[in-house]
This record gives sequence, structure tokens and C-alpha cells, in this order.
Amino acid sequence: MIDLLDFVRGCTFDDFLFAPQFSVLERRDPAAIDLSSRLSQHLTLKRPLVSANMDTVTRAEMAIAIAEEGGIGIIDRGFRSGDIEPQVREVLKVKRRQHGVIVNPYTIGPAATVREAAEIMRRTGVGTLVVVDDRTRVAGLLTSRDLQFVDANGATTVADRMTPRERLITSREPTDLAAAEALMRTHKIKKLPLLNADGGLAGLITAKDLIKQRRLPFATRDGHGRLRVGAAIGAKGDYLERAAELLNAGADVIVIDIAHGHSVVMARAIDAFRKQFGDTELIAGNVATADGTRFLMERGVNGIKVGIGPGGGCTTRLNTNYGVPQVQALVECRAAAGGAVPLIADGGIKRDGAIVQALLFGGDTVMLGSVLAGTAETPGETVQKAVVIPESSKTVKVPFKVFRGMASLQAIVDRLDVEDAESADVEALGAEGMEISVPARGSVRPVLRDMLKHLVSAVSYGGARSLPEMQQQFAADPLRYVIRLTEAAKRESFDR
Ligand code: XMP
Repeated sequence: MIDLLDFVRGCTFDDFLFAPQFSVLERRDPAAIDLSSRLSQHLTLKRPLVSANMDTVTRAEMAIAIAEEGGIGIIDRGFRSGDIEPQVREVLKVKRRQHGVIVNPYTIGPAATVREAAEIMRRTGVGTLVVVDDRTRVAGLLTSRDLQFVDANGATTVADRMTPRERLITSREPTDLAAAEALMRTHKIKKLPLLNADGGLAGLITAKDLIKQRRLPFATRDGHGRLRVGAAIGAKGDYLERAAELLNAGADVIVIDIAHGHSVVMARAIDAFRKQFGDTELIAGNVATADGTRFLMERGVNGIKVGIGPGGGCTTRLNTNYGVPQVQALVECRAAAGGAVPLIADGGIKRDGAIVQALLFGGDTVMLGSVLAGTAETPGETVQKAVVIPESSKTVKVPFKVFRGMASLQAIVDRLDVEDAESADVEALGAEGMEISVPARGSVRPVLRDMLKHLVSAVSYGGARSLPEMQQQFAADPLRYVIRLTEAAKRESFDR
């Protein structure tokens, strides 16, 4: 029997098609098909999409959009001057976006004036304050409506205007969200404070958040109903301090991301991370060989990022001649991991059809960079560029955004201190990435939804009822699916 690894050696996505199988799917509705997959050993996504930790791809806006669609974003660490705080801020923005239970609601004392209450509401943008006494027992609830028509300059206190404890509907924690919703419906209330056994404040549930949760059933959420988000760190310098602050802000998974993850630097970084943060969920990469995969597994990582050089903004292979074609890398790393540690197929996805390849050849999830570039949720300015239309020779203004490899000269210089950047020998920085302009587009959400629709169609062509089932069937007999293409077949398939 031919070995799959021998069959795919030296090959990447555009070298293959899959043979259609007997289809058993009658409805191709992405909402009805299981597309779930493991991001890492303890985190599962309902949709197998991850946005890349690149400074022109994932900041809070992208991370929110992709988590709401069922995937996850990894916030990059490439902020100007290498500061930690801006990255932490992006994580906080994602974690504050949606709640099930607000664990630390804003509070105020009953003796405070309504003016102070109005000031807190203005500063924080919240319309509800839980009134607590000096032992954090709930004394009442104050909403912005209670402050209407009140003389904010007078001596009116919070206690004068709040709904007092005895008129409040409350619930004892822990409450599951369905029970909370039923209680809120019965009593027609919009806010439900949660109390612990001593009457102390344990959280707040709001109708607005519950409605949002229902509208986005596939969203990737933590145990408190907040969106999940990952954050990248390096393997040198301030990386442990950075990890501590990111975790403190609520990051759900840390990704140690360096260009060559099968290295002595990585070994030291993982050991130090485990020593300081115990069994915190940790993904590491990148690797592209069986040896590299085993090396990371032996150090106890929970997920592995696979891909050396396939990225759209990447010049590693051009500049160093090292790298592994991405399909070979996925098959090889999959065989080494044996399913014990999930793999992220990172880089080289240029068309939606390559997603299903990445997920069948070995990836549990796919990491996307350039295919998301230019969408509204990517960071960076939109600039108008003059473009000549060949047919009419007319010049029109077209909006563009920048996409760049994280090892491009521009990205490296941006990460340096301004002073360092001035003194750095720019040639000596050894860039392994490039910067390009891409047309600015609309929201990333239709782009992600199209990917999912195409993935569902692929499940149907693959003769399965779900992504996990298609992965199992493929693993049992891959050569039933895989067709290696001649040059003419590649042209027939992909030249459009
Ligand atoms: P795509 O193809 O989706 O790939 O754009 C995204 C991945 O590319 C990697 N990446 C780089 N690789 N030099 C590299 O060798 C770079 O400058 C660079 N920047 C990003 C990274 O793994 C990302 O997730």
C-alpha cells in the first residue's frame, strides 16, 4: 500500500484535488452541520478558523468578529516600541465585548450622590450600577433611568433613587443562563443581580447580553459567556511578563510564536512558561517536521502551529531555502502527533478550497492571514491610491490597506524603539517577509461565512455528515480521496 507521506512529499495545496464521494447530506445549511474542531487540547471551536497573529490582521476588531463567527483570533505582539500594554488593551476589548455573567459589575455605595453615579456611568459607558454596602452586600440597583429628571447638583443620594434590595429580583449563584433567562422573563426584568450565600454581590446578568448570546449561537465563549481570544508572545526578552499580563487580562490561550519553533530558544521558553504558569493552555510554533512536532509534544504544549514558509507575506523560503511544502508538513506533523495534540495549519491558504485540504491532510484548524487582508476589521489606515484602468487609460482612486509579513523589514522596524530603529543597520535585520498593498474591502464576516458555506459543500462532496466524520473517513483511507495533479490538470482546476 502506498504511504500517504510518500505520496505528498514535496507537495502543497494546489498539487491535489479530492475525488467526490457518495453524498449523504441533504441539507447544506452551515447552521445544521457540525464543523467543530479542537484548537488545542482543552479548547474546542465550533468553526475551525483562526485569524493570524499579524499586525495587519488581528487586533480586537478582527478577534471579536471571528470569535462571534465561531473561530478565534490571536492578538499579535507587534506593537510599536514593543510595549506590553497595547496588546493587553486589545485582549481586554475582546473580553469586555460580550458577557453572559458580568463577574465584576460596576458598583456604588448608597450614600454617594446621584452626581457621582452619573459621572461613573458617563466614564464607563454602563447604564446600571449595583448599589452595595461597605460589606459588598447588595443594597439596590441604580440605572440611568433612575437619574432622569433629578437635580444632579443637589444632595440627592443613590439611596434616594435606587430600586432597593427588597423590591429587587435576584438569584443565587451559580445560575445557569437558561434559568436566569426564565426568571427574567417571568418577572419582566432586564437586570438580574447574582448573590452569594451571604447576600454579597457575585455578578450581574443583563437581558441585552442574553439576547446577543442567542443571536450568535456559534460564538466562541468562555465559561462566563465572554468571547475567547488568544495572544501571542515571543521566546525572549519580556515574554514571561507579557504572558502574565495577557493572562491577567483574560487571554484564553497563549501562543509562543517564533519563526523556527524547533529550537533551543523554544525549549527554554516553554520550560520557563510551564514553571511560571503551570498548565495554562499553551500553543507553540512554528514547526513543519515530525521531529519538530515530537519536540514540542515532549515539552508538553497543548497545541502546535504548523507551517514554515507557506505564508502569503513570507519570504523565508526565498531567502534561506528552508521550509516544507505545506501539505507535506501537515501529513508529517499529523503522523507524529497522532491526534494527541491538535495542529493549527498555519499559512498558504489562498482560496477557500485549500481550507478543506488543510483540515484533511492534518490540521485541526486553519490559521488565516492574507485571505483576510484588506477587510474592514483588519488594523491599519485605508489609503487612496491612483490606479490606471488599462482599457480606458483613466486614472481612478482605489482604497488600499497594507498587509505585511511579521518578519518584513517594515514590521521589524515598527516593533523597535524609535531610537533603536534609527541606529539599526536595516540590512542586517535579515527580513523574511514583505509588505504589500491590498484593496480595501468590506467586513470580514461575509468572507468567513463564505468559507464556512464552502466547507459545508466540501463535507457533502466528501461523503460525510460533519467535518469530524469527514476527517475520520479521510484518515482511514486517504488515497480514496487524493488525486495528484499534472500541470495540465492544475491549469484546468485553478487557472481562472
Ligand atoms: P497566510 O498565507 O494566510 O499565512 O498569509 C499567514 C502566516 O504567515 C506567517 N508569517 C510569516 N512567515 N515571514 C514568514 O516566514 C513573515 O514575515 C511572516 N509573517 C507571517 C505566519 O505564520 C502567519 O500566521
